[in-house]
Amino acid sequence: MSIFLGGGFLLLTGACAATDGTPGMIGYGLAKAAVHQLIKSLSMKGSGMPENSRVLGILPITLDTPANRNSMPNADFSTWTPLDNLSKEVFSWSTNSSAFPNGALVKVTTTGGKTEYSQ
Ligand SMILES: *[C@@H]1O[C@H](CO)[C@@H](O)[C@H](O)[C@H]1NC(C)=O
Ligand SMILES: *[C@@H]1O[C@H](CO)[C@@H](O)[C@H](O)[C@H]1NC(C)=O
Repeated sequence: MSIFLGGGFLLLTGACAATDGTPGMIGYGLAKAAVHQLIKSLSMKGSGMPENSRVLGILPITLDTPANRNSMPNADFSTWTPLDNLSKEVFSWSTNSSAFPNGALVKVTTTGGKTEYSQ
């Protein structure tokens, strides 16, 4: 006997930079553009994802992580996205199918300490 449960939520991390050319870091841009393609493909019928599941991508600029602070100690942190805000947003999207449509690539932009999420 098998029990199939539909639904589910998959979040993959792309990059805002990879929506344009990335001449100084071509390998990075290629890899992230591939993630954007994967998100689009997985969100479509026939991808093998479960019925009623959703796939979203986040396209951050710079996340405010300890590793990033260590490697860029003199950066302007007011343009970095706080992880507590991002994780709360992602949690709310995971339970709210109207937040962003399946397959959305959500740009994460922080300016002056204020974070916005847009397609
Ligand atoms: C779900 O997302 C929509 C669109 O952003 C929003 O208007 C609505 O208030 C959200 N619902 C809940 C329960 O948070
Ligand atoms: C994330 O931060 C923005 C302001 O920067 C705020 O409007 C939004 O409500 C925050 N989201 C959560 C889930 O706390």
